[in-house]
Amino acid sequence: MNTPQTITIAGYSNHPLVVRRFGYGTMRLTGEGIYGEPKNRPEALKILSLAVESGIQFIDTADYYGEDVTNRLIAEALYPYHADLVICTKVGTTRKPDKSWIPFNNSENLRRSIENNLKTLKRDHMSLVHFRVLPGNTSFEKSMETMFKLQQEGKILHVGVSNVTRSELQTAIKMGGIATVENMYGQGQRTTLKMPFGENRGGEEILDICEQNQIPFIPYWSIFTSKADDRVSGIAQKYNASAAQINIAWTLHRSPWILPIPGTSSLIHFQENLKAAEINLTEEDMRYLE
Ligand SMILES: NC(=O)c1ccc[n+]([C@@H]2O[C@H](COP(=O)([O-])OP(=O)(O)OC[C@H]3O[C@@H](n4cnc5c(N)ncnc54)[C@H](OP(=O)(O)O)[C@@H]3O)[C@@H](O)[C@H]2O)c1
Repeated sequence: MNTPQTITIAGYSNHPLVVRRFGYGTMRLTGEGIYGEPKNRPEALKILSLAVESGIQFIDTADYYGEDVTNRLIAEALYPYHADLVICTKVGTTRKPDKSWIPFNNSENLRRSIENNLKTLKRDHMSLVHFRVLPGNTSFEKSMETMFKLQQEGKILHVGVSNVTRSELQTAIKMGGIATVENMYGQGQRTTLKMPFGENRGGEEILDICEQNQIPFIPYWSIFTSKADDRVSGIAQKYNASAAQINIAWTLHRSPWILPIPGTSSLIHFQENLKAAEINLTEEDMRYLE
């Protein structure tokens, strides 16, 4: 099957960003519980350098990873940044030393978090920022108003949303130019997943809206949620590949509007995941994996 190599992040601004349709998610570069320094700092820095050397142009982060750990690692490994690199961050929560997550969505906190991301990433504006919806958030519209205001002020080039329901996404699209959507999605998990600390919203119906509106859809947890699946193993054998590689290849083939950001803390897994982009699944393989 033919799959496009690049994807355009357009939003409403006059600065569309064209990136390779294969990114990297940094969340796994933190310590246990997505908190603190990585177990192997040199390896984390090496993964980030290799990502850019290998042609990756899209890196996903958040100031609540660590906190600030992934942002600082990115700056240490990659600053001054390559002109084509898009660093996408998220706002909407903060952390406590007990590793708990404290959701926020008022204007003051969103603004403070953007300033913090700019400082730790050493940028004067962010190319792309997702408002990440968490349990406990109220008044989605008010939060989005703040995001668009920050865009008008030039702090953010493109505004996106994350972990949204169908109706939140439709509201956001009516309010302004939504550049990207980041929700949980993968071959093994297409719908909402309830976790003890809240809901991770899927997937399939959000992708439909993205396709209709030509908005790139960035799936998270496409490897993490994959189950031991005979079909994936069968296709993996056919291509002499791993199950993780088939899960990534599936996202690339599922829709040209998908921009995968597989995460890993392991250099070996990172190199393996990159090779998933070379797997050319057939229409028959995709039907089988349905
Ligand atoms: N917007 C949101 O709400 C949200 C939520 C979660 C994540 N994210 C973003 O999405 C990115 C992707 O999600 P994720 O990193 O949590 O999960 P993921 O991409 O689904 O997979 C990561 C998990 O799979 C393992 N893994 C990766 N490659 C592997 C391979 N080749 N073989 C075997 N195991 C492999 C990793 O362990 P190893 O480290 O041992 O490789 C890790 O446990 C994150 O890094 C983050 O940037 C966003």
